[in-house]
Amino acid sequence: MSNLSTTLFFLWTFMSSSSASSFFPTLRSCSIIKTRSDYVVDLNATNFDSVLKETPATYVIVEFFAHWCPACRNYKPQYEKVAKLFNGANAVHPGIILMTRVDCANKINRKLCVKFHILHYPILLWGAPSKFVGGHWNGKKEKSEIISIEDGKTAQRLLKWINTRLTSSYDLEDEKFENDECLQSNVSDPGQVDYKM
Ligand SMILES: *[C@@H]1O[C@H](CO)[C@@H](O)[C@H](O)[C@H]1NC(C)=O
Ligand SMILES: *[C@@H]1O[C@H](CO)[C@@H](O)[C@H](O)[C@H]1NC(C)=O
Repeated sequence: MSNLSTTLFFLWTFMSSSSASSFFPTLRSCSIIKTRSDYVVDLNATNFDSVLKETPATYVIVEFFAHWCPACRNYKPQYEKVAKLFNGANAVHPGIILMTRVDCANKINRKLCVKFHILHYPILLWGAPSKFVGGHWNGKKEKSEIISIEDGKTAQRLLKWINTRLTSSYDLEDEKFENDECLQSNVSDPGQVDYKM
């Protein structure tokens, strides 16, 4: 189906459904949209090399974390906020930075995390995706094409680091669509319905 007919089909489904909210759960409340947190791409020992070989992005950030680590849990929403700008179909700035994470507490990733000398969590590494493939990082800045992001502790600071690095001016408030989701969430607007999908 073309985009238009897909939209119309879903719109029809939506209009003719008496329990619309079950089809479009994200339309129910703004907080659900705001706390959606699946922008970061999960990498593991199995898909690490292949994802990084195939990504069209120029740069990658890999967060090495452990799911049990409280600092990592606190950091998650901060990291997601930045990932929302760069990852996924609705990214405001697609194709520039792929934002990923590796759970070092998962057994299958142990070797991978050892390769990258991960001694504490979370650690953010930056580089060209190809430099991570089959590679390793020895923790030294000199001569390494992979560098550690020392100051990425909040979404603002991580984005500031990126902006300094790329001489860019990305902003957490950058929006692909001008409308504020919360003020203008109008279910009869096909644009909104299409966007939420
Ligand atoms: C690795 O990640 C991929 C993609 O998320 C997933 O499909 C796969 O099951 C994971 N492998 C393991 C062993 O967890
Ligand atoms: C949605 O849009 C319709 C038509 O533009 C308008 O009549 C209605 O009041 C709007 N509803 C909300 C909740 O904004």
